[in-house]
Amino acid sequence: QDLFAGGSDTSATTLEWTMAELVKNPKVMGKAQDEVRRALAGQPKVTEDSLGGLNYMRLVIKEVLRLHPPAPLLLPRECMNDCRVLGFDVPKGTMVLVNAWAISRDPAHWDAAEEFIPERFERGEVDFKGADMEYTPFGAGRRMCPGMSFGLANAELALAGLLYHFDWELPGGAEAEELDVTQKMGVTVRLRRDLLLVPVVRAPLPLDY
Ligand code: HEM
Repeated sequence: QDLFAGGSDTSATTLEWTMAELVKNPKVMGKAQDEVRRALAGQPKVTEDSLGGLNYMRLVIKEVLRLHPPAPLLLPRECMNDCRVLGFDVPKGTMVLVNAWAISRDPAHWDAAEEFIPERFERGEVDFKGADMEYTPFGAGRRMCPGMSFGLANAELALAGLLYHFDWELPGGAEAEELDVTQKMGVTVRLRRDLLLVPVVRAPLPLDY
């Protein structure tokens, strides 16, 4: 049950935010699509083997997880011993929630913190593997997400397919700026309004798919 609960909504939310940010940022969308289409040129469909060279797409997912960590407060922790953190006494038994969402948008740690800029991860200085406390979409420490690699592989595979096979438009010819990306807070942070996009086929799927 934990694996299904921990793995389903988080992965779906990541994909939905990625598509929303890409439609909102057409230059990033173009760059990500160019990369996928060049890497897969002539292939009938996306397979796991074809994901290796998709470095920019991976930066896009990283930036999505910074601005929209699907589990914004990670999971609740319980303090095992009385301790003092930054001058605050935290008694044994206290429930502690880490606001990873706020930390990964904190201008003290990030330039242009509210902007969607995948290139900020280009130099690979900050990663989500649990060592950089300003960026912990999968948590950190011994209880960090055990499904990280699986979740990422899932998101990459699905996203590469969406970018390879289709161009994406807003319904009714709406402009990218009109897309409502207001967040709805909950155990996971989703778009307040479900994302509705129109796919335009570019690379048709093989008939036996
Ligand atoms: C993009 C996808 C995912 C994100 C962003 C994500 C995020 C997280 C976060 C933030 C935590 C809490 C870590 C902490 O408190 O330090 C967590 C825990 C967990 N995740 Fe994920 N997760 C993802 C995918 C998955 C998948 C695919 C699975 C399983 C197939 C999974 C299974 C779990 C489980 C079982 C825990 C609890 C671990 C424990 O308490 O020891 N997650 N995840």
